[in-house]
Amino acid sequence: MAIVTESNIAGKNCFTEKNLEHCTIVIIGASGDLTSRKLVPALFNLYLNNGLPDAFHIVGCSRTELSSQEFKNKIQSSLKKDRDLNFSDWQSFSASLFYKSINYDDVSSFISLAEYLKSLDKKSNTPANRIFYLAIPPSIYKTVAKMIGQAGLAEEGKNGNGWSRIVVEKPFGRDLESATDLDQSLHEDFKESQIFRIDHYLAKETVQNILMFRFANSIFEPIWNRRYIDNVSITAAESVGVEHRAGYYEQAGVLRDMFQNHMMQLLALTAMDPPSLFQAKPVRDEKIRVFRAVRPFSLSSLKDFLILGQYGAGVIDGKEVIGYREESGVSPDSVIPTFAMMKIFIDNWRWQGVPFYLMSGKRLTGKMTQIVIQFKEVPHSMFRKVLGEHITANHLILGIYPDERITLTFQTKNPGTKVCLRSVTMDFFYHQNSQGQIFDAYEKVLIDCILGDQMLFWQQEGVELCWSFLTPILKECEDCSDRSKLLHLYDAGSRGPDIIGSSYRFPDK
Ligand code: BG6
Repeated sequence: MAIVTESNIAGKNCFTEKNLEHCTIVIIGASGDLTSRKLVPALFNLYLNNGLPDAFHIVGCSRTELSSQEFKNKIQSSLKKDRDLNFSDWQSFSASLFYKSINYDDVSSFISLAEYLKSLDKKSNTPANRIFYLAIPPSIYKTVAKMIGQAGLAEEGKNGNGWSRIVVEKPFGRDLESATDLDQSLHEDFKESQIFRIDHYLAKETVQNILMFRFANSIFEPIWNRRYIDNVSITAAESVGVEHRAGYYEQAGVLRDMFQNHMMQLLALTAMDPPSLFQAKPVRDEKIRVFRAVRPFSLSSLKDFLILGQYGAGVIDGKEVIGYREESGVSPDSVIPTFAMMKIFIDNWRWQGVPFYLMSGKRLTGKMTQIVIQFKEVPHSMFRKVLGEHITANHLILGIYPDERITLTFQTKNPGTKVCLRSVTMDFFYHQNSQGQIFDAYEKVLIDCILGDQMLFWQQEGVELCWSFLTPILKECEDCSDRSKLLHLYDAGSRGPDIIGSSYRFPDK
């Protein structure tokens, strides 16, 4: 992860502890949505903040026939949608933008891409370091990775190549078998150190802060365990629906879309033991230990651990919205879940018996991502005779969205002559008194990829362990003779299926 210190805040390459080496970022799938919505804006912001190497090229590739100028025009108009584009900034940035059309399954097309990349580097006399960013449908990851390999573009240090990296977006497969298969294909041409599996949640500032908060303070870690913590809730609620991604979502559903990746990463960061060093390997190894300790679900009593839901029509922010089955591209009798809540146990010394409630869904009341650490109640209330009331247990909220903050709730005396308790909160807003540029998650993953730092990326073992946990559940749900029975419908704009209510707890198991 790029380390920012105050002393290096001003000046070129100020976001990293190392100099960024020249590289060419080859975006495969450059005519798609991800490129215009996320990648190019992130690269442009990095450029404006001196977060790209002094010399760089961005080469867009896709099947569409475009000239480099047409590609630039397309990018320029999509950037203009969100900002006032300063003409001279755009001129200087766009001088490094190029376009080359390719056929994804045609090796000669990739060989000519290799020639094109070589000629760019020759012209600017820059080393041939390359990042291949796969912004394409997962169904063609294997084919494209193979083509890159066959065109000799994956080999490092040969034929004039410098380093070569491949960036893969989730989903990494759709179950354990396909994830392993994809990985084997990638490894035919790329070494593990060349493969960057993105999870943009890991690059969110406040998600990264979980480790700092836990391990750079001595007061929380001693109570971060089964003796003091009653339960942990991890929530990623969204108000958006499936948007324009029905084709993908109908195949994925919420378990593949949010749980196999983002939710499991949040779980690992909350539950992991302290790594010996803040470096990619020790950090990722500790997460792997958490994944290994996740207790498999008992498939015979799935309902005691898992609730699935699907949104119907409803009202969000005063506007009527349609139900999932009415969305364009969704089957009218779809049984794909858009909501899930699960209770997970981690079978290790630290967490034995502590439930982790993971919840994520689309078209809920609002967008909110947070982790709540619910501490145990006081073991004995000396106030019970005077107050005759239950004392609310402490809780700590690690807010990720919309409020990037940390909140600790505790009890104090309410001022006055009568003895009364009140819950108060201590709040820390993440950006308060902060210095330095705040980076978007995509900006950070791009910098780390240029640096070759894999800390914020998935390790294949983690991917497989999470699939090993989820695949039997998915299979059980998908093979079930009446899948609709497992689905609780909920109104868009609600808090999820009625069964959840405000204080739903799964049966004790
Ligand atoms: C993506 C999912 O990975 O994460 C989307 O595919 C989801 O369905 C998104 O909406 C949520 O990300 P964020 O950063 O908006 O919380």
